[in-house]
Formats: sequence, structure tokens, C-alpha cells
Amino acid sequence: MASAVHSHSDLPELAARLRAGELVAFPTETVYGLGADATNSDAVLKIYETKGRPRFNPLIVHVADLAMAERFVSFSPMARKLAAFWPGPLTLVLPKRPEAGLSDLVTAGLDTVGIRIPNHPLALELIRAAGRPLAAPSANRSGKLSPTTAAQVERSFGGLVPVLEGGASQAGVESTILAVEGELVTQLRAGALPRDEIEAAIGQPVAAAKHDAAIAAPGMLASHYAPNATLRLDAERAEAGETWLGFGPGPDGANLSPSGDLREAARNLFAMLHQLDEGATRIAVAPIPRRGLGEAINDRLRRAAAPRPQS
Ligand code: TXA
Ligand code: MG
Repeated sequence: MASAVHSHSDLPELAARLRAGELVAFPTETVYGLGADATNSDAVLKIYETKGRPRFNPLIVHVADLAMAERFVSFSPMARKLAAFWPGPLTLVLPKRPEAGLSDLVTAGLDTVGIRIPNHPLALELIRAAGRPLAAPSANRSGKLSPTTAAQVERSFGGLVPVLEGGASQAGVESTILAVEGELVTQLRAGALPRDEIEAAIGQPVAAAKHDAAIAAPGMLASHYAPNATLRLDAERAEAGETWLGFGPGPDGANLSPSGDLREAARNLFAMLHQLDEGATRIAVAPIPRRGLGEAINDRLRRAAAPRPQS
């Protein structure tokens, strides 16, 4: 196994590595995840070490089906309604079943669990073959852009972590995170499942997270998803020294979606930021509409543009 990127035929071996407490990066429909057995604290610790995460943020647990989810969390009637979006880009924060054996490092000591069934056949096959729930944050070094291809994962970790090849991620931004408390549904993170689709399905509004949602979802630091280049948002044109990132019809150059399609823009977002980051020092980004998937795209762009912590 010379390369860190593995094809489907290696899946049984990768599943065995997960059972043995090692890390495996795997594809999902949102972004690639850095996976570990969520019931094994030593394995989960390796996620934090490998990503260089500064502190213990709770991690999302990935399961293969509803029966597996029910072993680890309890579902209220509202949670059950929302689970109709599974498999799909939706994470539900639900009460943890304490006896179920999830590592406390996964939940960072909270009595809730962020859980989802990813909509990618290889992710589901890997979870089933491992026979374990997989804790997985995005497979990038802490604070950097999330990866949507196996090659980006390999570049981040210099071949240290085996990666299951699953093609480019279809959605391209992370899952939408909802906290469910009784009938109250609060969006902790905008993501690949647009809020209006959720509201239509449950027939009630989804509350917006308060500004201190950094506490509710501790991973939501202001500067996150940061490229090396600086970003200027809602730009009308590139000024001298800036590289243009367009949306909709406009000047030549990188374009998230020349036809102005938000789905295509979400899918291209991290990949294009990765690409531009190779050469650009300043990126001017065209305005992106706020509706539908635009909420998640604008959220990621704002974080990418935020002032960086001094290092
Ligand atoms: O699309 C995704 O969600 C990707 C793929 C790999 O599934 N994963 C991902 O994980 O984005 P990560 O670790 O980058 O983001 C996890 C977020 C963090 O903001 C964390 O604070 C929040 O989920 N979270 C997890 N469990 C939580 C809990 N019990 N309560 C509140 N927030 C939670
Ligand atoms: Mg991440």
C-alpha cells in the first residue's frame, strides 16, 4: 500500500484498521471525514492529535441506519420527523443514551450527541463493515479548508492517514446542524440542507442560533475554513493584486457557478478556494444570494474572510 489513497477493494482492510483503533478518512456527500471508532477513546484522541484541534469540540457520529442511531441517541417525535432527511446532509443533536458506550471525547462531556447517516454508498459500506459508529470531523488540519476530494485529504496529512477514494463530494459544504429540544428546532450551523426545505417538511419555523452559538456548537469559531489568502466578500470586481472568484455571468476567471446555480456553487466552493489558494494572496468574491443553500455558502465565506487568530 504505497499511496495513502485506497480504492473500494481495500475497504475490508480499512474497516479492520478502524476496529483496531486507527484513523481512516472517508468520503461523504458533504466533505471528506477523518473517521475513528466513536466507542474507542484512544482512537478518538488520534482525531484531535492529527487535526491539531486546539481543544475538545464535540464530534459528529456517523451511523449506517436508523436502528444503529437508536442505539446511541433517543428520538422525540420531532426528531423522528427530521430523520426522514437521512441518509443526507443533516446532523441532529439529540439526547445521548449514556449506556450506549460512546466515548466521552466524542461528546466533549455533553449529554447530547450530534449524529447523522451520510448519503454516500462507500461511507455506509465502511460503517457497516467496521460495525462501529464513526466519529468524524472534516478531514483537514484544524482551521483550514474542508476537503471535497481524496487528493486534498492526502495533501493535508502527508500520507499519514489512509483515505478511501469516493470521488468529489456532491454537496461540497458540511451538514446542516439542528438541535432538537422537544418541538423546538434550532439551527446551530447552516449547511448543505437548506433551512427552507426543513421548514417545509416539519411545517414550522426553524429558529436561528443565537450569536453565542459558538457555545452551543463549539466548533463554530469565527475564523474557520480559512485559506491562506485573504478574502474580500460581496465584491463588484477584482482590484489590483486581487484574484476574482465569480458567481453568475461575469468576467473570465474562477467562477463558482457561471449560470448562478447555488447547488453548483456549494459543490465548487472549497475546491475553488483550495485551487485559488495555490497562487492568490487576495481573493475578491462576487456576492452570493442569501436564499436556500446561499445561507451556508455565505456562512463559510464569512468565516474564511474573518480575521485570523494570531499564531
Ligand atoms: O458534513 C459534516 O457534518 C462533516 C462530515 C464529515 O460529516 N463533519 C463535520 O464535522 O463538519 P466537524 O467536526 O467539522 O463539525 C462538527 C460540529 C461542530 O461545530 C460541533 O461543535 C458540532 O458539530 N457538534 C457536534 N456534537 C454536538 C453536540 N452534542 N452539541 C452541539 N454541537 C455539536
Ligand atoms: Mg470542519
